[in-house]
Amino acid sequence: KKRNMKKSVIKGFGYYVPEKVVTNDDLAKLMSTNDEWITERTGIKQRHYRKNINDAEETTAYLGLQASKKAIESAGLTAKDIDYIVFATLSPDYYFPGCGVLLQEMLGCDTIGALDVRNQCSGFVYAMSVADAFIKVGQYKNILVVGAEIHSFGLDFTDRGRGVSVIFGDGAGAIVLSASEDDSVQGILATNMHSEGKYADELCTKFPGTKYGWSVRLKNEPDAIPDEEIYPHMNGNFVFKHAVTRFPETIHEALEKAGKKVEDLDLLIPHQANKRIAQYVQQQLGLPDEKVMVNIEKYGNTTAASIPIALSEAIEEGRMKRGDLVCLSAFGSGFTWGSVLFEY
Ligand code: COA
Repeated sequence: KKRNMKKSVIKGFGYYVPEKVVTNDDLAKLMSTNDEWITERTGIKQRHYRKNINDAEETTAYLGLQASKKAIESAGLTAKDIDYIVFATLSPDYYFPGCGVLLQEMLGCDTIGALDVRNQCSGFVYAMSVADAFIKVGQYKNILVVGAEIHSFGLDFTDRGRGVSVIFGDGAGAIVLSASEDDSVQGILATNMHSEGKYADELCTKFPGTKYGWSVRLKNEPDAIPDEEIYPHMNGNFVFKHAVTRFPETIHEALEKAGKKVEDLDLLIPHQANKRIAQYVQQQLGLPDEKVMVNIEKYGNTTAASIPIALSEAIEEGRMKRGDLVCLSAFGSGFTWGSVLFEY
């Protein structure tokens, strides 16, 4: 007998970025870079950083909390209505436990499940696919899906790190994904997730990982740990080439699975990695400007937070309306990539 599947729909949304704005000119004071290079290669004009590099208050979970409060409120719910949390980040407050439990406590939720997702730039689409599956089988009703990052604490602001550091920013976004019996909206139609771990070293931060014996080395020879292991490493050209192939692939896969065509799409919200990647993907798919959400100029790449921030802005700006066919798509460290296609 066929199980009666529920529909999962986005009921609420919200985002939060720290107040402090850091322009390309500000970064040019710290390393040899300039506004022209950053704008031309990435489309980024500014990003937000938390006020202090070290701050026990304004953490990743805290940013996630601010976005979550807005998402829960916009869903017309309270924290007590949330029955599961999925938290995606590559920059957790602690090495362990993850941010999910910290958010559960901060929100004052019941002792609900809190799952952490470690899929970097694809983190939010991975998180959403898990939430969608739980809702479709009827396990949970209102799932809080969060993506949040503090990058500013761990970037190399010297010339060595300039190819990476100019790209990333802090921020958070969240949605409430809810079970729906409303016939007028279809909700999530298709998801697909992929990975190719042989490229793990092409975009990674090695510290503090078990492979590198970090705790012993930190204790015995702290100065001997090379910067390459502490700061994020990215083979930019290599990542770029894979991204522009995988994005169209995963988007087509989602559309095909749902029996839709590119022409049916009302809005594509790609992970905000680089404006040139988005433009390339747009061109490949033959989409007009108004059907591709790009806001990287304001926030840089906020990794797991970039899609829920862009999604929230798209709704606020009236670019994403109820009934629209929307595709969220991401590619990043892992490598990982995937898409979520839904009728909003
Ligand atoms: N300011 C000024 N010059 C810089 C710079 C900076 N911030 N960063 C690097 N450069 C220099 C390089 O040293 C290099 O100089 P050289 O030619 O004298 O050796 C030159 O600029 C070109 O560097 P390169 O790395 O080849 O540039 P690029 O065109 O590949 O652009 C990225 C670099 C990072 C913008 C680009 O590769 C990219 O966006 N990749 C994808 C990254 C991404 O999306 N990551 C997130 C994954 S989801």
